[in-house]
Amino acid sequence: MTNSQRKILVTSALPYANGPIHLGHMLEYIQTDIWSRYQKLRGHECHYICADDAHGTPIMLKAQQMGITPEEMIAQVQKEHEQDFADFNIQFDNFHSTHSEENRELASDIYIKLRDNGYIKTKTISQLFDPEKEMFLPDRFVKGTCPKCKSEDQYGDNCDNCGATYSTTDLIKPYSVVSGATPVMKDSEHFFFDLPAFESMLGEWLSSGSLQPEIANKLREWFDQGLQQWDISRDAPYFGFEIPDQPGKFFYVWLDAPIGYMGSFKNLCDRRDDLNFDDFWSIDSKAEIYHFIGKDIVNFHGLFWPAMLHGAGIRKPNSVYAHGYVTVNGAKMSKSKGTFIKARTYLDNLNPEYLRYYYAAKLNSRVDDLDLNLEDFAQRVNSDLVGKLVNLASRTAGFISKRFDGKLAKINDTSLTEAFLAKQDTIAELYETREFGKAMREIMALADMANAYVADAAPWQLIKQEDKQEEAHQVCSNALNLFRILVTYLKPVLPKLAENVEGFLQVTLTWDNLDQDLAGHEIAKFKALMQRIEMKSIEAIIDASTENLQVTQTEVPKVEQVQTELEKEPLAPEISFDDFAKIDLRIALIAKAEHIEKANKLLRLELDLGGETKQVFAGIKSAYAPEDLIGKHTVMVANLAPRKMKFGESEGMVLAAGPGGKDIWILEPHAGAKPGMRVM
Ligand code: 2FM
Ligand code: ZN
Repeated sequence: MTNSQRKILVTSALPYANGPIHLGHMLEYIQTDIWSRYQKLRGHECHYICADDAHGTPIMLKAQQMGITPEEMIAQVQKEHEQDFADFNIQFDNFHSTHSEENRELASDIYIKLRDNGYIKTKTISQLFDPEKEMFLPDRFVKGTCPKCKSEDQYGDNCDNCGATYSTTDLIKPYSVVSGATPVMKDSEHFFFDLPAFESMLGEWLSSGSLQPEIANKLREWFDQGLQQWDISRDAPYFGFEIPDQPGKFFYVWLDAPIGYMGSFKNLCDRRDDLNFDDFWSIDSKAEIYHFIGKDIVNFHGLFWPAMLHGAGIRKPNSVYAHGYVTVNGAKMSKSKGTFIKARTYLDNLNPEYLRYYYAAKLNSRVDDLDLNLEDFAQRVNSDLVGKLVNLASRTAGFISKRFDGKLAKINDTSLTEAFLAKQDTIAELYETREFGKAMREIMALADMANAYVADAAPWQLIKQEDKQEEAHQVCSNALNLFRILVTYLKPVLPKLAENVEGFLQVTLTWDNLDQDLAGHEIAKFKALMQRIEMKSIEAIIDASTENLQVTQTEVPKVEQVQTELEKEPLAPEISFDDFAKIDLRIALIAKAEHIEKANKLLRLELDLGGETKQVFAGIKSAYAPEDLIGKHTVMVANLAPRKMKFGESEGMVLAAGPGGKDIWILEPHAGAKPGMRVM
């Protein structure tokens, strides 16, 4: 191995330290982890590095909201992130934080080099400022009325209602999301990184093959529009690193975030005698560096980052590998559908290796989105991992222990072994090129061959016949040897299963050991390796994810909000029981939900009462997207006289609670409720 041993540094994007890891994030960590484990399995020197991305305004404000310091908050979140990753068997060689001394030093050094090389410019710009909070407001912290369709409560730069994009300063009646104050324009000097100075270098980089073709094309669009100066400073108050010699000015979070890859690696090198930082990062380094990222952050990694490195005299990465988004059941992950699934919620209910396998089975080297279809997921895992893989061992191992002293036979017919080994280069190449889905198909095709062989030979029949004992021994030994090869191939994807199999077969599974001969080798007693996925575990995940929403939506500040609303609103005058009895409340299934053109607050719902359908216009647009409502059960006033409204006739009302805006919740009955049932 030594001659061809590669030195590799691989990274995943750094998760923000203000929220939990969810299954969307996990795609990237699983993808990178499989690739990194594959490199290690091949005997290469590979270091998988990550960190929490700890800086920026959202993190500062969230900590304030929680009444703790940002340092306390990011420490707490980092602990949770690390636990989630560890439980998904993500094998980082180091997980650090961008809020670290290593990163502060590296960010300052790189900035000073860029400055001294003439790549930092200053310019005074005017921006929205919250006079109460005394802070500049990033776009997403300003809301107001859309200048085009006049819809209220729209975010800084685009309208949810009509899709218009505009500049934050064009909003009508803008207000600060932080304090509610009306922002004012204020001047301040900002520092800019001179991206246009790197035009020719970036032009070469885009055609160098370091990027996937679709990403290079996307970046070329930016490039062709003309590169712009990049604003890398933010004014105090800001949670980040102060810019050297510029009191009150801080590095924008995206300046020190990618440097965090280096910071984390530096932290590792400082603790390891055998690792040298410069071997990887110096301009003439022969080591390989790869960044795995999501497609939403390709501009930072494909343009700004290589330019920063180049400008500071540091080598660039070999490649940046982008993946697409995760959808669940064909749609964007949705909190109200229970498909916004946190890593922890998944782990509370299912084995992490199921998801590792499913993602692997659907991943390729392109930037396509990946759908986690929960039924397909259960079916695929049950059929491939339990039905094909584990079954191979569970059907044969018992005979070896019971009848043959736990020892494997010398295999006479090695044709299947040879066929399995002949696939090793193909499978290796597929791992190397991130075509994991194709690799899984190759491996499962081999598993099919092995299962057909066992089914055909039927060792459970042979074992009953005195003169067929040797044959039974042959078949079971052969099956277990093929199983060993399959699990070696799958080791990057299923590290925990592979570890258990190593215990059971009493061998170390490495690529170099693929062709080892186990004649006469003693194995341990077989223990169950993997259970089938039950649909009830998936339902439990969906239920818990829907509950999660209710918990997070009643976080401290919001509860206060609700209470003030209640205090403000006195109870209505008393009514008689007869008045009350007139109201016919029914369970309704939301069969259809849709936007209404030109309506700011209303959604059109079609409510199924178990036979009869009613149309209702409900003022819940600010709280729900139509696709989040379809398929839900709720409670409606079913006997309300129809009312003519601007957009049509409304034939009832749905029950909902909350102070308004985003915080409105339709009532959701118990799962046992059926459309048309009377609510008592
Ligand atoms: O988009 C994100 O979630 C960022 N926190 C990723 C940063 S990756 C790297 F550049 F630090
Ligand atoms: Zn609008």
